Amino acid sequence: MALFKKKDIPQSIVDLSSLNLPTHVGIIMDGNGRWAKKRGLPRSAGHTAGAQTFRKIARYASNIGIKYLTVYAFSTENWKRPGVEINALMRLFKDYLNEGLRDFRDDSIVLKFIGDRSAFSKELIELMDENEEISKDRDGMVCNIAVNYGGQDELIHAFKDISEQIESGELSPEDITKELVSDHLYTKGQPDPDLIIRPSGEHRTSNFLLWQSAYSEFVIMDILWPDFKESDFDLALQEYNNRNRRFGGI
Ligand code: IPE
Ligand code: IPE
Ligand code: MG
Repeated sequence: MALFKKKDIPQSIVDLSSLNLPTHVGIIMDGNGRWAKKRGLPRSAGHTAGAQTFRKIARYASNIGIKYLTVYAFSTENWKRPGVEINALMRLFKDYLNEGLRDFRDDSIVLKFIGDRSAFSKELIELMDENEEISKDRDGMVCNIAVNYGGQDELIHAFKDISEQIESGELSPEDITKELVSDHLYTKGQPDPDLIIRPSGEHRTSNFLLWQSAYSEFVIMDILWPDFKESDFDLALQEYNNRNRRFGGI
């Protein structure tokens, strides 16, 4: 995985018309805590700033013609964090669902929440449902927000569903194909991500879209998520265009 240094970012905005745009982009929105620490602020301030960056980048991706955007907001492992941080994240999520997402009201973005939402409060679950309902008939970019999401957890759910269908006689083991597994994931019906961007410089997936990322191009960027700008997104698109995708062929 290549590490992209901040200093490599060109001054001029990339000519997007010359680029082959990925259909589906995933972003691991990482680095909020370090961003806050650098400023002597509580980690929660980093999460608040990160939420603003999400708004900006989702709108930008939609405007330039990206069809699917999946953002990793909270992992199944993030519950390990101190209670004070979890509480701040849940508060932020609630405020966001109440006010922030309505920001997208004038956009054509379709909102979906992927992950095991049963772990959240009734209020949060209702707000997620409401936001999905409000946006479901729009014709723009699909934005998947991954909350209490883990790729391993998603696969376990899929295997349980498939096992139940086998037990009931609806399916037989021979019916298990890659397509069948894909159809039991939260991203059912969506193309796999072409490009996955990880700001904050970490070289790992941290359990993001494990099945779906089999042939995704990874762009690791040396920038903290709250500092991420539209021009950084352009830079990732440019790097994606330099890649030679072979899918196992030659
Ligand atoms: C990502 O930023 C947001 C969540 C995981 C909720 P982090 O909080 O992981 O920020 P760092 O990695 O500690 O800087
Ligand atoms: C991945 O970041 C999860 C999200 C960005 C939501 P983490 O900060 O949780 O990942 P690790 O712990 O560095 O692998
Ligand atoms: Mg992190």
